[in-house]
Amino acid sequence: MSLHVAKTADLGFAEWVIEKQLRIEQMLELTLPSTDIAPQVLHSAMRYSALGGGKRVRALLCYAASELCNGDESMADVAACAVELIHAYSLVHDDMPCMDDDDLRRGKASCHKQYNDATALLVGDALQSLAFEVLSNTQKISNTKLQLSMLNILARASGSIGMAGGQAVDLASVGKSLSQAELESMHLLKTGALIEASILLGVANGSEVQIIAARTFAKNIGLAFQVVDDILDVEADTDTLGKTAGKDATTNKPTYVTILGLDVAKQHAQHLYANAINALKPFGASGHRLKELADFIMQRSF
Ligand code: IPE
Ligand code: IPE
Ligand code: MG
Ligand code: MG
Ligand code: MG
Repeated sequence: MSLHVAKTADLGFAEWVIEKQLRIEQMLELTLPSTDIAPQVLHSAMRYSALGGGKRVRALLCYAASELCNGDESMADVAACAVELIHAYSLVHDDMPCMDDDDLRRGKASCHKQYNDATALLVGDALQSLAFEVLSNTQKISNTKLQLSMLNILARASGSIGMAGGQAVDLASVGKSLSQAELESMHLLKTGALIEASILLGVANGSEVQIIAARTFAKNIGLAFQVVDDILDVEADTDTLGKTAGKDATTNKPTYVTILGLDVAKQHAQHLYANAINALKPFGASGHRLKELADFIMQRSF
């Protein structure tokens, strides 16, 4: 299969999203091992968990950040693919009985329900390894120093001072009433870190000024993303979400809604959004795609 190619700078936002979602789906399709290769069940479960679902927000952020500094799109392909693989792994593990125990993900049975716990564990492990294989075994990042720094960005964002660390705090916080500062640092890690990495990978080849502004945008929109997720968990229904609504309450998780209440949580999300948009100012008109993605993150229904 060859990659779907288009010049996308002038597309309307809806068309741009579809174009990039198709592009990342094709990248993942080409990257994930075929079910013809042993071990077939593991490969089938990896494909089940990573293909054909999800908004692909992290990939979209990576592409938009890359466009911002006229980055090479095939380099963004590799970075976006690696981030979506890490994200898919995090969702498979997040749904397991030892974590959030959720039966539904992206509108279908979660990996451990469709297969079994051991397979879900291994799917997460293998998707994570594949992400680093994709980023390390490519000709699309010509500069080795840049490639190493991109590997470092993804590794830090995924590990114990990033997503996995945030998930550990999340699990240790069950039944507790966290302060807003504690909740913020948990959300910045469990969700913010990978969103920030998506954007930093996109601007990895950019100037110092671009990277600093992009990081401020990323921190605010990454946190806003999880605040909105907490709100949707309360307000949306299971069919729309494609995952079990009300799960945070049934698993006794402290969230922005339990700590601040629904109205203040919504105001806080707006405040973070405003900070994110403000950070785009140095980019002028070229920041429009990230602005549109910030709007998308705030207005999404799932
Ligand atoms: C869900 O992320 C997990 C969180 C970090 C809140 P998304 O809402 O991006 O999930 P998909 O990829 O669209 O399914
Ligand atoms: C998940 O947070 C964050 C990660 C998967 C890293 P949630 O537990 O709130 O995500 P959902 O609501 O199950 O998608
Ligand atoms: Mg969770
Ligand atoms: Mg969960
Ligand atoms: Mg949630």
